[in-house]
Amino acid sequence: MRKLTTTLAALAVAASAMAQTHQMELNTKKLGAPVQPTMYGIFFEDINYAADGGLYGELVKNRSFEFPDHFTGWVPFGNFQLKNDGPFNKNPHYVRIGDSGHRDKFSGLENEGYFGIGYDQNADYKFSVWARVPNGGKAVLRVMLCDPSTMGERQQFSEEKLTIDSKDWKKYTLTINSKKKVNKGTLRIMLDRNSAVVDLEHISLFPADVFNGDENGMRKDLAQALADLHPGVFRFPGGCIVEGTDLATRYQWKNSVGPVENRPLNENRWHYTFDYRFYPDYFQSYGLGFYEYFRLSEEIGAEPLPVVSVGLSCEFQNGAERSAAHVPVDQLQPYIDDVLDLIEFANGDPAKNTWAKLRADMGHPKPFNLKFVAIGNEQWGEIYPENLKPFVEQVRKKYPNIKIIGTSGPDSEGKQFEYLWPEMKKMKADLVDEHFYRPESWFLAQGNRYDNYDRKGPKVFAGEYACHGRGKKWNHFNAALLEAAFMTGMERNADIVHMATYAPLFAHIDGWQWRPDMIWYDNLRSFRSCSYYVQQMFSHNKGTNVLQLTMNGKPVAGNADQDGLFASAVYDKPSNSVIVKIVNTGDKAQDFSVNLKGMKGSKSATITSFTADKLEGENTLDAPTKYVPKTSTTTISAPTLSGSVPAKTFVMYKISK
Ligand code: AHR
Repeated sequence: MRKLTTTLAALAVAASAMAQTHQMELNTKKLGAPVQPTMYGIFFEDINYAADGGLYGELVKNRSFEFPDHFTGWVPFGNFQLKNDGPFNKNPHYVRIGDSGHRDKFSGLENEGYFGIGYDQNADYKFSVWARVPNGGKAVLRVMLCDPSTMGERQQFSEEKLTIDSKDWKKYTLTINSKKKVNKGTLRIMLDRNSAVVDLEHISLFPADVFNGDENGMRKDLAQALADLHPGVFRFPGGCIVEGTDLATRYQWKNSVGPVENRPLNENRWHYTFDYRFYPDYFQSYGLGFYEYFRLSEEIGAEPLPVVSVGLSCEFQNGAERSAAHVPVDQLQPYIDDVLDLIEFANGDPAKNTWAKLRADMGHPKPFNLKFVAIGNEQWGEIYPENLKPFVEQVRKKYPNIKIIGTSGPDSEGKQFEYLWPEMKKMKADLVDEHFYRPESWFLAQGNRYDNYDRKGPKVFAGEYACHGRGKKWNHFNAALLEAAFMTGMERNADIVHMATYAPLFAHIDGWQWRPDMIWYDNLRSFRSCSYYVQQMFSHNKGTNVLQLTMNGKPVAGNADQDGLFASAVYDKPSNSVIVKIVNTGDKAQDFSVNLKGMKGSKSATITSFTADKLEGENTLDAPTKYVPKTSTTTISAPTLSGSVPAKTFVMYKISK
């Protein structure tokens, strides 16, 4: 009897040991839905000083003296005067500088940049200014890179002279080499002794080394971080800034193209949206405008996806009822024309259309090949479909190949979401933009979110999402891990989920309004968050077709009996490989064995694993690569792929077929 009991106990232990190995089935022969090239992308909005003070290479704040306080960012000194009859009609202000009248006093002005100006040692900077000597003669400008905090003798560590000698407005340029590395420097311009009176307008300073060497270019490390994601789609320019707090301050793309000197300033709502993160000097110069967005999309290989106003200003701020904040349906034509003209600007023939000609004049005669347009951002209520309808009708009629993206409002579920999805179906929107900034519990519970979506309606664009992790809502590892878990569900449903873009993208460490964010920076350094690396793992390994991966006949989606596991698989045609992604969100390691149906023999594989020593672990400016995925190679004996995923780990196997 004792012997039998011992044997049963031993069997029970063995059975329980076996039960702990999660058996999964993967049919590698039957290719599922194509994964869209646009599947993983980026969403850019000028929030957190993402454009001016961030991605946009310009280092001078308020370069055209058009901020409401015309000297915001500047300290003028000596003999100076603000004038407003300058050469650029949309930016008429400029500064007149004259001799101080005393040999021991100086005239000029100094710019503080965005939280200071970052200068790298030995790097070149391109200074430019529109200037004239209105009364003739010659004016010599001393252009200085300064370190106001220096303990040494001289604040200026680099200096060059620039002679202004034309009575007519002209652009003057010089290159200045920085002799020092300074994170919070300034730009000082001083009138030399015995100089004539001089007028200065659009004073600009760029690093010479910008991304791709472009004119009016982008900060290199930040643009490179975008390129390194291999994004499939690039949504811009927002977000709430598309809508405006009122109609006058909505993003107007037409103001963001043409010569930079004549792009008018716009308010940036993120200057005042949160009174506890208040930035009264936050405006939009439009220096990074639609031409630059399209150009960058092309450079990083992403489909451009502009978002345009649907004639409704921010409904959070103005309500969802008809009011003066929203354009009545019968007065929408100028707004609709903005969309039609935008399509011409991007794709039109320069010989036939003035907006297309402007694109060519700006340096891009070939079309940008725009395929998508999103109409409205976070809109809701009946006013949205009412306003959207005439846009859809006119865009469809004139450009039947352009795909139209509507919105399901600001929430991931609930009344507005339930109302808007059917409305978007009726409207025959091609895609519907969903937004969800949600806590960890939401991400853990949403593994099956897209499994039962209607396959006959519009496709899904998860246009803004991020896990807002516990406590300080920061970019900690656990938030990134849960995003990875959730993304396996998007990938499994790639037949309906065609695009997904994490948000927000960028944040200046001294000027953020919203966090978490994907990429952080100060004036010289940047780091990529854990969420960035999750996005990159998916984007680089999105494959070309979904493969069905199941456990006990069900998707692996973090369900109650699945021990916190989430998983998806794809086939990648160019590399002829099978990619399996497994996320263990639980507290214990989980053994698994995948039966790779259709594969046999010894196969080489890479294993990429992303984990952290603590859940709150995060990368920082001082330790930018503390948490990064690690890759190794191995050989597996197909058809069995087995292993153990440690607790709180995202692991990915790429197996050559
Ligand atoms: O990404 C930040 C903001 O979140 C966006 O502007 C808006 O669309 C959403 O509410």
